[in-house]
Amino acid sequence: MIEKGNITQIKDASPVKENTQKPEAVVYENSLRPKVLNEYVGQKEVKRNLNIAIEAAKLRKEPVDHILLHGPAGLGKTTLAHIISNEMGVNIKVTSGPALEKQGDLAAILTNLQENDILFIDEIHRIRPAIEEILYTAMEDYGIDIIIGEGPSARSMRLKMPKFTLIGATTKISLLSSPLRDRFGNTYKLSFYDEDELFEIVKRAAMILSYSIDDEASKEIAKSCRRTPRIANRLLRRIRDFAEVKGEKTITLGTTKKGLASLGIDLMGLDQGDRDILDTIISKFKGGPVGLSAISAACSEEQSTIEEVYEPYLLKIGFLERTHRGRIATKNAYTHLGYEYIESDKTR
Ligand SMILES: Nc1ncnc2c1ncn2[C@@H]1O[C@H](COP(=O)(O)OP(=O)(O)O)[C@@H](O)[C@H]1O
Ligand SMILES: [Mg+2]
Repeated sequence: MIEKGNITQIKDASPVKENTQKPEAVVYENSLRPKVLNEYVGQKEVKRNLNIAIEAAKLRKEPVDHILLHGPAGLGKTTLAHIISNEMGVNIKVTSGPALEKQGDLAAILTNLQENDILFIDEIHRIRPAIEEILYTAMEDYGIDIIIGEGPSARSMRLKMPKFTLIGATTKISLLSSPLRDRFGNTYKLSFYDEDELFEIVKRAAMILSYSIDDEASKEIAKSCRRTPRIANRLLRRIRDFAEVKGEKTITLGTTKKGLASLGIDLMGLDQGDRDILDTIISKFKGGPVGLSAISAACSEEQSTIEEVYEPYLLKIGFLERTHRGRIATKNAYTHLGYEYIESDKTR
């Protein structure tokens, strides 16, 4: 329910933050976003299910059921939300959990939607509980409860709003409350991409940007990008800078290898940040188990950055394990960093 006195805020609020100042990197990223499902590489099962959901909704002339997208950063959640709006032929309004400060902020967005529109809330796990409550009735009954008046004469009124689709994206589904999670009809998990898919993504990006790149060079980038399309695209851009400075018209394997090395990216696709974390666990904490806060303090890196940026890939490649007692560096991590792994030390 919206507290009394907040009604005026419904009109005033303008929480859909427009990105007026677009840094080059954002423009670059947007230019590479696939626009339709067919151009979206990989994630076969998600695509198949989405296709059915979209086709069925179109036949019924109704909005798609609410969709929750989760998975590590850079795997294509935002891209997918825009694709769904394209495929449905409806508008998409974009906001994020932390951007919604007051209940009125969300109410204003909801009441301004048109029939069948999409509301995309990024980082939905960071939405405040009071604001989350408004979502419940909006998602379920397409209505918002407001209180008019004060004291004994106060009464509750339901504002009707158009039917819409909520698409929520999160890197941390475990932080979502279960009432909110339960209100999504579809939940899709995006997984890390395989090398063939990333090869295709690099080739596609190079073509859009009119860069010429060898297959071997594309493969090398596909291997070094932490299985993440956003990073593949970024590496392509950096390496293309190297090629340009060298006066090469085509990006070759040689330039790619040199470029990656000078960016501090090793054969496993790890950068200095990853290696610092592993090195800290091994050299300062005997390989763990060690808590996140201790690693964070020792590496001078935010806990959330470690958890959301570094860890998912380190867990994926089996360099790190998470136990209830803390993080543990695995034998593979020791070997990769050139440390000797003594089995007997580990039977604690
Ligand atoms: N399946 C895909 N196929 C092609 N490019 C992709 C795919 N997924 C992501 N990308 C690219 O990676 C970049 C990051 O994707 P994004 O949707 O912003 O990730 P997220 O929202 O999950 O952090 C985008 O610029 C997009 O071009
Ligand atoms: Mg995103």
